[in-house]
Amino acid sequence: MKKSIFVLALAALFFVSCGEKKKEEVKEIETVKEEVKETATEVVADNLELGKKLFTEKTCATCHNPDMKVIGPSIKDINKIYNEQNGNIVKFLKGESVAIVDTDPGQVAIMKANLDGFVKDMTGDELAAISAYMRSVK
Ligand code: HEC
Repeated sequence: MKKSIFVLALAALFFVSCGEKKKEEVKEIETVKEEVKETATEVVADNLELGKKLFTEKTCATCHNPDMKVIGPSIKDINKIYNEQNGNIVKFLKGESVAIVDTDPGQVAIMKANLDGFVKDMTGDELAAISAYMRSVK
């Protein structure tokens, strides 16, 4: 009788400690998950920050205002058309797709001069950051 109680107690202890361990593991996984999420958020934020900076430094901002047409269409108007037509801003900037926002030849030529002039020297990462920034303008 005593022996079986002892065995039971041991078993109980074993299960409790296993449970504790599981809980700790779950906690660790949760912590790692949190960290990954935070890092991802930081990466996205950094990318947007870079995109915003480039948008100004590379003079895009002189022709593209978030809300209203200046020389080029507003960022919001560009987003609207790109959403509707499932367009890809990076592709456009790389010269791999044609203009879909303002197809007036004079206007297209103005933007094309930028693409051929300096946008072609920008890296894929820079263009992706600019696109991410433009897309974030709501
Ligand atoms: C000198 C003025 C000017 C500058 C600088 C300029 N753009 Fe433009 N952009 C235009 C004009 C005009 C249009 C309208 C023609 C068109 O849609 O292609 C346009 C159109 C666009 C479009 C829409 C293209 C489409 O599908 O119709 C995007 C995206 C764009 N510009 C991004 C940029 C980015 C990014 C920069 C900076 C690297 C930039 N622009 C710099 C004048 C400019």
